[in-house]
Amino acid sequence: MRNVKTLGLLGTGVIGGGWAARALHFGIDVIAADVKPEMEEWIRGAVANAEPALARLTFAPLPPKGTLSFTTDLAVMAARADFIQENIPEQLALKQRMLAEVSRHASPDVVIASSTSGLMPTDLQRDMVAPERFLVAHPFNPVYLLPLVELVGGVLTSSTAMDAAAKFLTYIGMHPLKVRHEVPGHLTDRLQEAIWREILHMVNEGVATTGELDESIIYGPGLRWAAMGTNMIYHLAGGESGMRHMLAQFGPALKWPWTKLEAPELTESLIDKMVEGTQAQAAGRSIRELERLRDDYLVAIQQVLRQYDIGAGATLRALEERLYQDAANRAPAKETLLRHETVVRPEWADYNVHMSDFRYGQVFGDAMDALYRSVGIDYAARSSGPVFYTVESQVRHLSEAKVGERLHVTTQVLRVDDKRLHVFHRLWRSTDSTLLATAEQLHLSVDRAAAKATPMAAAVRDKLEALAKLHAALPAPTGAGQPVGSRATG
Ligand SMILES: NC(=O)c1ccc[n+]([C@@H]2O[C@H](COP(=O)([O-])OP(=O)(O)OC[C@H]3O[C@@H](n4cnc5c(N)ncnc54)[C@H](O)[C@@H]3O)[C@@H](O)[C@H]2O)c1
Repeated sequence: MRNVKTLGLLGTGVIGGGWAARALHFGIDVIAADVKPEMEEWIRGAVANAEPALARLTFAPLPPKGTLSFTTDLAVMAARADFIQENIPEQLALKQRMLAEVSRHASPDVVIASSTSGLMPTDLQRDMVAPERFLVAHPFNPVYLLPLVELVGGVLTSSTAMDAAAKFLTYIGMHPLKVRHEVPGHLTDRLQEAIWREILHMVNEGVATTGELDESIIYGPGLRWAAMGTNMIYHLAGGESGMRHMLAQFGPALKWPWTKLEAPELTESLIDKMVEGTQAQAAGRSIRELERLRDDYLVAIQQVLRQYDIGAGATLRALEERLYQDAANRAPAKETLLRHETVVRPEWADYNVHMSDFRYGQVFGDAMDALYRSVGIDYAARSSGPVFYTVESQVRHLSEAKVGERLHVTTQVLRVDDKRLHVFHRLWRSTDSTLLATAEQLHLSVDRAAAKATPMAAAVRDKLEALAKLHAALPAPTGAGQPVGSRATG
């Protein structure tokens, strides 16, 4: 299967637009095909709308953005794509026909996946050429922020296609969940629909309004679900003996008629209640406004979960590890100073609309992480071997950084010994090469368990010494070793 540089999309509505935004953000080119030419403007708008939230998802260095092109000719899309994602309306006959046609134009080493919410892959791949490269890759709206993607193979799907899809989707920051057996609705929609059916019953019977039912989730179970699913939460509910006690205590209730599951008839009166209820909840806010609010909290939640390395936060952390590693590998060989790139985010600004001073610490910290990665200290190595602690830091502010400006840090290794690493960072505004700040730092290799300084690993020291030797040929920073208040600028 191909290494994916270009993602082909068939159907560029809500889901196609979400796929485009995610792939472009992580450096993949996109060629989008839709029967309606007006969808070109729509998809470009959708990508632009996704950008503010996506841009705040991670501070890790990103590859150059991919480029978006559009066509109404699916054969053109199929000929250029390395991976094809179908996102046309949820109608079995239409999908079967279009997937068969796409498969005639795409080379057999191109994986073709469908975003279907609940159709079975065996039915969808029936008329395709090389059906073994077909699978369902079911994402969730907004595709550009939610990492979950369910991967479901049909009877003809090869494990090579499943693995290739998982690899590509992980690359663009997703969490592929391989579904063992194809069932209508896959896993998540089956669960979501169970809740939705109960909602429809309760609204129909006048038991509760749509707003009250949403409250019953968002102040309670919804908060738990972001990091632990129903099963783990019920395991905790059973006390010391966990799930066994939980089942003994609440198992008998499963026989009681709490749930109905069979959906009620969608009468005009029920439809009216659902529409009026949700309009009252929206309280005059447009769908766009509500989408922005949703996107903002989805970003914030994932950043909190990252601190606990759990659920979607663990996916984000793993993605960032790779982005930092890729950036270290991308550094041009002729460049002797290590370079870390970033952008001043809106929330980094203080009341003077400049980057707050504590963010300088964060940016220099990120530059150090980039340096560590380049000498082989990644997340795994940090959790098992010695780590570096910052023991001295002198930051000099020479000019201001404003929101939206592109910055980069160059890091010069001044001295290395058994346990100590002495560096000098310069923070530049990238557009005009203005020096904004410098930071001189001393880092100490520490055995965390013993809470004592300890020699760094020999391989790490060798690499740092090689850098120090290379950097010794550069002019020594005039600002290094200066007392506070000195007027040196370099
Ligand atoms: N909306 C969701 O929340 C969601 C979530 C996950 C999966 N899905 C699945 O994704 C798929 C697309 O859903 P959507 O919400 O984006 O629908 P949509 O109606 O927003 O978009 C469908 C697009 O397909 C285009 N199209 C129709 N026929 C076509 C053809 N023959 N060739 C090319 N383009 C064609 C339409 O012009 C339209 O732009 C469905 O299978 C749906 O079940 C939807």
